[in-house]
Amino acid sequence: MNFKNRDIISVRDFSKQQLLYVLKIAKKMESKSYANLLKDKVMASLFFEPSTRTRLSFETAMNQLGGRVIGFDRASVSSVKKGETLWDTIKMAEQYADVIVQRHPIEGAARLAAEAASVPVINAGDGANQHPTQMLLDLYTIQKTKGKLTNLNIGFLGDLKYGRTVHSLAVALSHFNAKFFFISPTALKMPDSYLEELKQKKLKYVEVQDLFKVSKKLDVLYVTRIQQERFPDPLEYEKYKHAYKLDKSLLKHIKPGLKIMHPLPRVGEISPELDNTPHAVYFQQAGNGVPVRKALLALVLGKVK
Ligand code: CP
Repeated sequence: MNFKNRDIISVRDFSKQQLLYVLKIAKKMESKSYANLLKDKVMASLFFEPSTRTRLSFETAMNQLGGRVIGFDRASVSSVKKGETLWDTIKMAEQYADVIVQRHPIEGAARLAAEAASVPVINAGDGANQHPTQMLLDLYTIQKTKGKLTNLNIGFLGDLKYGRTVHSLAVALSHFNAKFFFISPTALKMPDSYLEELKQKKLKYVEVQDLFKVSKKLDVLYVTRIQQERFPDPLEYEKYKHAYKLDKSLLKHIKPGLKIMHPLPRVGEISPELDNTPHAVYFQQAGNGVPVRKALLALVLGKVK
């Protein structure tokens, strides 16, 4: 399977076999150090939107593989502030780097960057659209903590309208015969285009507002925050910001093996009292970003096959 020079823009760029292949390489990255694999390679890390996990885990991945990192963590310190276009910014980054990792608030900005660049572009999140590297580390986490990816009951809870991690992961899990439980206020429901896709693939899903109506059925509960920065109207955000708050009372209404995931950051939707239960895997999930992003960097730079 050849990933050399490929852009990683959307979950839809991956077949089931390719998803499983990246997970296999990620596992290898955990067991062996590969400390010089990307020696002499440079990653441009262009973050036009805030990030903790994605940016730091990409940098950690590159450092652990012996590569180097250049870039910025906000648009205001780049020449975008002086009016430079995204296209020209990418044409500059490709002069200095072998791979570009970009986060941008506008949907489609990753695809545009990939068109501009002659080096591989990895989408680290474009608006409410896609977050394919998060999707891969989410799959990796499910595989590691549940021991399998197929035939699982997966609950997605919170802001399913604007949550790009939910969009990417739901499409990925459609390859693995998941049953979907979408739990959200009606105003923040899963977009119809994704539901239509599941229908066409003859996959089962239900939509509810009350978590407790379905919680006993779930193998995985994927919690998301209400995405304040995506709401056109701040008053709408105020209405929904406390829609869900999980605490230990949840534990009376679940299967014993439930795993609770969250792409993080959390802003009140999971109480810290759940952190030390065997159900909480969200910090481990964030840690899995390192081997998964090591695998992706090594693959698109043609250093593993
Ligand atoms: N999960 C995720 O994308 O986190 P950051 O916004 O901190 O990168």
